[in-house]
Amino acid sequence: MNYSDSERVAAILEKIGYQKAQIPDESDLYIFNTCSIRQKGEDRVYGFIKVVNQWKKKNPRLLIGITGCMVRKTSSRNTEKDLKDELLKKLDTLDFVFQIKETNRLAEILEEAEPQLDLPQLEEAELNDYLKIKPNYQSRIQALVPIQTGCDKYCTYCIVPYARGREESRPMEDILNECKQLVENGAKEILLIGQTVNSYGKSILDKKTGKFEGMEDPFVRLLTEIDKLSEKGLNRLRFTSPHPRDYSDALIEAHATLKTLTPHFHLPVQAGDDEVLKRMNRQYTVEKYKKIIDKIRARIPNASISSDIIVGFCGETDEQFENTAKLYEDVQWDMAYLARYSPRTGTTSVRAFKDDVTREKKAERWHRLNDLLEKSARAYHENLVGKTLEVLVEKYNEETGECEGKSRENKLVQFQGNPNLVGSIVEVKGIKGLEWLVKGELLGRTQSLVA
Ligand code: 5AD
Ligand code: SF4
Repeated sequence: MNYSDSERVAAILEKIGYQKAQIPDESDLYIFNTCSIRQKGEDRVYGFIKVVNQWKKKNPRLLIGITGCMVRKTSSRNTEKDLKDELLKKLDTLDFVFQIKETNRLAEILEEAEPQLDLPQLEEAELNDYLKIKPNYQSRIQALVPIQTGCDKYCTYCIVPYARGREESRPMEDILNECKQLVENGAKEILLIGQTVNSYGKSILDKKTGKFEGMEDPFVRLLTEIDKLSEKGLNRLRFTSPHPRDYSDALIEAHATLKTLTPHFHLPVQAGDDEVLKRMNRQYTVEKYKKIIDKIRARIPNASISSDIIVGFCGETDEQFENTAKLYEDVQWDMAYLARYSPRTGTTSVRAFKDDVTREKKAERWHRLNDLLEKSARAYHENLVGKTLEVLVEKYNEETGECEGKSRENKLVQFQGNPNLVGSIVEVKGIKGLEWLVKGELLGRTQSLVA
């Protein structure tokens, strides 16, 4: 989501006359698009601001601003003292702070921070909805398309509902138009993004607006509509992340029947123990999660399934952690993003529970799961040996002569190739499965870049 948001910030900056600096410490403007999911991310921002402050000594014209999830309720435009953002108080070298939804108003915000600037202002019509900003896509071939903002799930550990606000879906027509344009401009892969994509069209705000009235499963409908772009050159449709609570059979069926939907499922479980899940307010049981996995495996035999897991959540006993490890052995996710619980101020878990699992225990549990992950990831990759993989080539490395890209299963594949292959889809035979990637050999047939 942050990558996609940054593409919008870049687009607005270009529109008002800025250009990307070739040398970072010679820039006039530096904006941090921040993540608050864990303390580590925030600490990195504080660390980097110190570096940028040094640049500011050399170049007093440099403006430093911050956006993203570290900016909560207030912004630089709230001038009353007690409303002023905590961040501006804490980091007094910051020149401005804005919420990502205010990206459209960046010209105004910058002029407020530096009255000498005289920037072109956008038309009123362009100022309402930040998702209507046409992003500065980082890649012409693979595009990120947000389908919703915010989150209504309120998992007790999570800052997102506070940082990004209420869940609201983007109108289907806007998404379809964006996808269509992307494909017409050569996009081969579209990644739909949102906090809980499979509740698309079903949030409280969505119901209030009536935009999706009468639609049974708006997310599946959206996927079905986008899939039709396969005729125009779309090859892969992916999405992240769905929530197990709203996982419908129709969604699994869509994977089996839609041409472009890839066989990769990222389905965050967070914990493998019902009591922990309850304290996390995840609104499903281990049993229900396992049933979804069984259905996926029955319908899509080559499915790649990944997850997010938090270790050391408040009150997690050894036994409860063992249940998560057991579930790992059982499900064999071929990829997992493992996190140690990090208390976030303002969340329910901080108010209601104690962060009582020690750092050492969190580390120990993380390593236990990481060992399981290394084994299962390697096993999945080894299983791809001898198979023909369809790879969308992202990069060419001159030093090694290797091309690199992802297979439809979302696995990293490297093979000897040439720079002309970048942007095309090629067939590669799996030769060797390693922990984090597959080594392969290029087979002849390619689908070349759409001109
Ligand atoms: N501590 C640790 N991990 C967290 N995540 C979200 N909030 C926290 C937190 N407070 C993880 C979850 C989520 C992923 C994006 O980040 O696993 O799925
Ligand atoms: Fe956070 Fe839970 Fe929403 Fe995911 S579903 S963004 S973990 S509150």
